[in-house]
Amino acid sequence: MSLLDAAKAVRENAYAPYSNFKVGAAIRTGSGEVFTGCNVENVAYPEGTCAEAGAIAAMAASGQREITAALVIADAPMPVTPCGGCRQKLAEFAKADAVITMMTTEGKTLSMTMAELLPGAFTNEHMDNT
Ligand code: THU
Repeated sequence: MSLLDAAKAVRENAYAPYSNFKVGAAIRTGSGEVFTGCNVENVAYPEGTCAEAGAIAAMAASGQREITAALVIADAPMPVTPCGGCRQKLAEFAKADAVITMMTTEGKTLSMTMAELLPGAFTNEHMDNT
């Protein structure tokens, strides 16, 4: 399944009663498998959990650890870029040259590499003196 079809399909399941902003995310792993996530909000923390974080959690729970590509889709005037926390979560598993595609439901597309999306990322190499 394409990342686009997977992200579109999972977006339908988004639980976003507070923002009314549904987001779908799909990631491809080193083995070629696709994992998906949608945003899930709750009354105490209305921002809830981002779609990207859901997809990453599903991937990690299956034992996989490498993101080769990801796609995020929402109904927005311009492609929705992952929040700061999600950039760090993606960077944990995505190589610098992995392509992150951001799309609107109308087809506007923005593609960036992981390194472009999170320049100067904090990595475990920063802790090499410990
Ligand atoms: N959201 C995502 O799921 N991914 C993003 O990249 C941006 C924002 C969600 C979180 C919240 O449920 C809603 O969009 C509004 O912030």
